[in-house]
Amino acid sequence: MASPPADSVFAHVAAAPEDPILGVTVAYNKDPSPLKLNLGVGAYRTEEGKPLLLNVVRKAEQQILNDGSYNKEYLPTAEFNKLSAKLIFGADSPAIQENRVTTVQGLSGTGSLRVGGEFLARHYHQRTIYLPQPTWGNHPKVFTLAGLSVKNYRYYAPATRGLDFQGLLEDLGSAPSGSIVLLHACAHNPTGVDPTPAQWEQIRQLIRSKALLPFFDSAYQGFASGSLDADAQSVRMFVADGGELLIAQSYAQNMGLYAERVGALSIVCKSADVASRVESQLKLVIRLMYSNPPTHGASIVAAILKDRELYNEWTVELKAMADRITSMRQQLFDALQARGTPGDWSHIIKQIGMFTFTGLNPGQVSFMTKEYHIYMTSDGRISMAGLSTETVPHLADAIHAAVTQVV
Ligand SMILES: Cc1ncc(COP(=O)(O)O)c(C=O)c1O
Repeated sequence: MASPPADSVFAHVAAAPEDPILGVTVAYNKDPSPLKLNLGVGAYRTEEGKPLLLNVVRKAEQQILNDGSYNKEYLPTAEFNKLSAKLIFGADSPAIQENRVTTVQGLSGTGSLRVGGEFLARHYHQRTIYLPQPTWGNHPKVFTLAGLSVKNYRYYAPATRGLDFQGLLEDLGSAPSGSIVLLHACAHNPTGVDPTPAQWEQIRQLIRSKALLPFFDSAYQGFASGSLDADAQSVRMFVADGGELLIAQSYAQNMGLYAERVGALSIVCKSADVASRVESQLKLVIRLMYSNPPTHGASIVAAILKDRELYNEWTVELKAMADRITSMRQQLFDALQARGTPGDWSHIIKQIGMFTFTGLNPGQVSFMTKEYHIYMTSDGRISMAGLSTETVPHLADAIHAAVTQVV
């Protein structure tokens, strides 16, 4: 009998690079300083720095537990899917009324993007997807693994800490016809920079005139402005013109359901007939990857979306999260003004959503970590949700020192 090899058959496996965001948290956890502050995490925190379980989620879970008919059968997701489509497209969306939308439940935003990417790689005539530069770090890897080829379009202008609108129009203008374009529906991650409604309209016209295919990523509906409808405007503008698109929705941030992994992928088609064939192929992608999505998170979302009282309660809690973030922006801006920190910091109040792209360089970031125990990704992105009224002065001191002492 052959003896087993002395070494592991996996001995050659190299350690994967650490996730840059999780790496920040690992370093933070090791720091014994009482002043330490973690602005790297991409999850909402309360004023006390704690994760938030929404009251409305607690209520919905209770309701589900009390429901004698609730079971753990393979998921009948029709209700969740319909409600998710209504949430993003609007209750009176013609595309929904005409049955031109197909929606499938996905494993939060990431899983929905992956299913959409894989569907496109198998069934769409163009394999290139254009991503904004910069974008959420998982985008290029998820789409590459799904079988698409990734290119970038200019998005962020470091000089203004705003949108490079001209660069965006030029790059999308020269993309081959049919290319897929990834668009952040609102609260662009990591920059916090969104196009204005007038700029969205120009982007829409360009995309449609070149027959590009928009693929929206909606990870922050309601989180940006506090209004679910306002944050869906970019998407609805593209649905209103009758053209086709994909959209991945996540309930991680706006319902605080991070670990439940609940999201949806919708594809808006030109006819009900095409939509139903597309749906059959989406189901096939899912069946061969993980068969069925989990039921618990989707039941919570459906319970909230279908009940007027719970829905209203959710909008109030969502607005409170968005308002706290806006207030942190204002407080940080005011604190830097009060210190006379050199430079224009108005981007802190202009940028949208959970993240501020501070413009601090990697040297300044590592100075702030070393001297002030403040942790963030090396691109200078800070999560405003990680701040509180108590910690704003410490951050403002650190930024002031960094920009005055480190070039
Ligand atoms: C832009 C963007 N897309 C998608 C996601 C997906 O997150 P999840 O898979 O947890 O829903 C995130 C989360 O941070 C994000 O920022």
